[in-house]
Amino acid sequence: MGSATKLAFAVFLISCSSGAILGRSDTRECIFFNSNWEKDRTNRSGIEPCAGEKDKRRHCFSTWKNSSGTIELVKQGCWLDDVNCYDSSECVEKKDSPEVFFCCCEGNMCNEKIYYSPEIIHTTSNPLTPKPELFNTLLYSLVPIMGIAAILLFSFWMYHHHKLAYPPVLVPTQDPGLTPPSPLLGQKPLQLLEIKARGRFGCVWKAQLLNEHVAVKIFPIQNKQSWQNEYEMYSLSGMKHENILNFIGAEKRGNGMDIELWLITAYHEKGSLTDYLKANVVSWNELCHIAQTFARGLAYMHEDIPGLKDGHKPVVAHRDIKSKNILLKNNLTACIADFGLALKFEAGKSAGDTHGQVGTRRYMAPEVLEGAINFQRDSFLRIDMYAAGLVLWELASRCTAADGPVDEYALPFEEEVGQHPSLEDMQEVVVHKKLRPTLREYWQKHAGLATLCETIEECWDHEAEARLSAGCVEERIITMQRQTNLIAPDDILTVVTMVTNLDYPPKESSL
Ligand SMILES: *[C@@H]1O[C@H](CO)[C@@H](O)[C@H](O)[C@H]1NC(C)=O
Ligand SMILES: *[C@@H]1O[C@H](CO)[C@@H](O)[C@H](O)[C@H]1NC(C)=O
Repeated sequence: MGSATKLAFAVFLISCSSGAILGRSDTRECIFFNSNWEKDRTNRSGIEPCAGEKDKRRHCFSTWKNSSGTIELVKQGCWLDDVNCYDSSECVEKKDSPEVFFCCCEGNMCNEKIYYSPEIIHTTSNPLTPKPELFNTLLYSLVPIMGIAAILLFSFWMYHHHKLAYPPVLVPTQDPGLTPPSPLLGQKPLQLLEIKARGRFGCVWKAQLLNEHVAVKIFPIQNKQSWQNEYEMYSLSGMKHENILNFIGAEKRGNGMDIELWLITAYHEKGSLTDYLKANVVSWNELCHIAQTFARGLAYMHEDIPGLKDGHKPVVAHRDIKSKNILLKNNLTACIADFGLALKFEAGKSAGDTHGQVGTRRYMAPEVLEGAINFQRDSFLRIDMYAAGLVLWELASRCTAADGPVDEYALPFEEEVGQHPSLEDMQEVVVHKKLRPTLREYWQKHAGLATLCETIEECWDHEAEARLSAGCVEERIITMQRQTNLIAPDDILTVVTMVTNLDYPPKESSL
């Protein structure tokens, strides 16, 4: 061996071993598996060669379910550069009992074997354990902290320097002028599970994002405007609220002609208020809770709140309030969804181009049906309030509190105009005949329902200026609930458990 060759060999050895010390092993291929292969039109299982950019690490991943020891693989394959997978030669899930298990690793086919080793969090200062030596104490306490700090710093750095460079599995869209909503989204596997609803602008899917369920609303490219608008509304300052659907991220998928626009939000198993009322009746306290949380969400949307942590929250008009756009959490707390038509009003700025006659015909206020609205901020808020009145009527119509029969669920004006009313039908009923859904006489005998009926009538008043504000409706509902509880003290207990108990006993859901 010539000395040059020896030198080259030595350099090679050194670089190899330093690579080994750093734990860096190149991943060229991974075990591939897809439990949903028929729908996704992929192979069921095999070996996947990993593509990736130069200077980027490549990994393998596995996701699986484990129902009391029975392991069901979900997906396996290549995984893009991800600090969470650095330097682990074995594929180990460390999270404590996740719904879906996930692990990633480095090295060819390292995802063939999967391990589950939850990190048990020990409580500090157990008097029975012998006092460890100072060095050990330092080692055990400082190293993890420094490790976490280093990982955090590193991820932060990676995110800032490389966010545009990844070809990710899932990454928020970088539209000019809009900050990516959540960097954490990047690269988590997302699997569409089933279609839950079809709306005017696209389908809503139940999906799995790592180990949680999320809702994915898919818009065809023709509906880019409403995707963009909804995304923009959710990204406004102060739009995180308990009674507004929680937004997770938005992205563009596919390329060329096949672009789809995705909007990812929290998923609520109970579905919409329409679904719920179709399948269930509601008690007085349930009605109060749903109505109050809905009104609180609407009041919050309608409010202008300067000086929040993340900026100035502008007034937002929803413009498509209806029971289908109100979702129910497990404890029956309402949250408002679907901001495809929403408008924001910032001081000194116009609301931009807008058409007056938008929304769902059935819920259109008389001035909208007539095409006679003025484009002032307050007119839009009053249009929302008219629709809110109809939603409250839907709740009242399915409430068991009154001493009388509970009607089958019906949409507002279903009796008058049927399932698919035309604009003319609605104009005839709402504008010319000035009809409103029926408030049953026997509802008036229940003190609470009587107040609710009054509130409903003040929401759907023909005169827009006479309508109640959302904040006022919220207060009315709180008051009427308090009143009825003074009359029937037994109910107080139910109210308390309902508000505090997150695991509200599940009712049959239509989903
Ligand atoms: C399926 O596997 C075969 C060979 O193993 C490969 O040639 C083909 O590209 C794979 N198809 C897909 C859709 O991955
Ligand atoms: C599956 O769950 C059982 C306990 O239910 C656990 O002992 C086992 O390690 C888990 N295995 C995997 C691969 O998740």
